[in-house]
Amino acid sequence: MTRILVTGSNGQLGNEFRILSSKYNKYIFFFTDIEELDITDINAIDAFVKDNYINIIINCAAYTAVDNAEKDRKSADMINNYAVKQLALTAEKYNCFLFHISTDYVFDGTNHRPYVESDITNPLSVYGQTKLDGEKSMLSICKKSIIIRTSWLYSEFKNNFLKTILKYGKQRDELNIVFDQIGTPTYAGDLAETILEIISETKNISNNQIYHFSNEGVISWYDFAKEIIDISKIKCNINPIETKDYPLPAPRPSYSVLNKSKIKNHFKIKIPYWKDSLKVCLKNFYFDKQ
Ligand SMILES: NC(=O)c1ccc[n+]([C@@H]2O[C@H](COP(=O)([O-])OP(=O)(O)OC[C@H]3O[C@@H](n4cnc5c(N)ncnc54)[C@H](OP(=O)(O)O)[C@@H]3O)[C@@H](O)[C@H]2O)c1
Repeated sequence: MTRILVTGSNGQLGNEFRILSSKYNKYIFFFTDIEELDITDINAIDAFVKDNYINIIINCAAYTAVDNAEKDRKSADMINNYAVKQLALTAEKYNCFLFHISTDYVFDGTNHRPYVESDITNPLSVYGQTKLDGEKSMLSICKKSIIIRTSWLYSEFKNNFLKTILKYGKQRDELNIVFDQIGTPTYAGDLAETILEIISETKNISNNQIYHFSNEGVISWYDFAKEIIDISKIKCNINPIETKDYPLPAPRPSYSVLNKSKIKNHFKIKIPYWKDSLKVCLKNFYFDKQ
């Protein structure tokens, strides 16, 4: 039986694997977060993979506090780069397959068409740079590996844009949201399901590849917020504002739409439209609890 280690499994994406694991009983899953397995601890990773005869590692652990990273490069680099390198070395040593998640923030946003995997990277933020460094470390070490770059991740779990809008939408009469950052949201449940489908297709896997994955569609954060408020029937006005009127420590790319042709063509997958997935996610945790 294939034995799968999911690191960072208390996070948005990691928790989606926990939910989906009951549907995939042909695999044995090991769910760990920093308490059980700190991915910066080389010896702990080595021992865990060896003792549990792990065949596949799915690395969902990351330093994701994009703005904090501007002041804490050391921690961001430790988790997003150094630890990824250690995971790659361990995967290579024990002949495991390593899945790793990266970000649209490796791009600078100057494109006028969706980014393909081979486009030139140029991160604007410390977070983006540490994620790019992690990609490079991993690809240089680990032959059996796949990196999936995704964007605007949200889920039922942890804190994210969706939950922030629901929370403040209920407390306030109006919210100001930027309309000049364009991208695509990604429901973490869809990403987790896609990774498990790819694992099922082991014969079709080409090693050492980067793929882009998000939901279908192209929107601004303003559109995303407006749809969240409309679907959940919250009474709150959403006002479009410019990024310059909402300054944050970490610069974001103004355009980071990912082209998903490579992953769709290679694995013959269909990706849900962003509005459909948003409704699924809201149904899973919001409407049932109202
Ligand atoms: N969130 C987004 O919008 C977004 C967009 C594009 C790409 N991504 C990428 O997608 C992946 C999944 O993101 P996510 O949103 O699911 O992240 P998340 O919710 O922040 O989850 C990451 C998990 O990793 C844990 N962790 C941190 N340091 C660790 C360590 N040293 N060892 C083990 N676990 C550790 C975190 O614990 P703590 O919470 O205690 O730190 C958290 O439970 C990441 O690679 C991220 O860079 C995310």
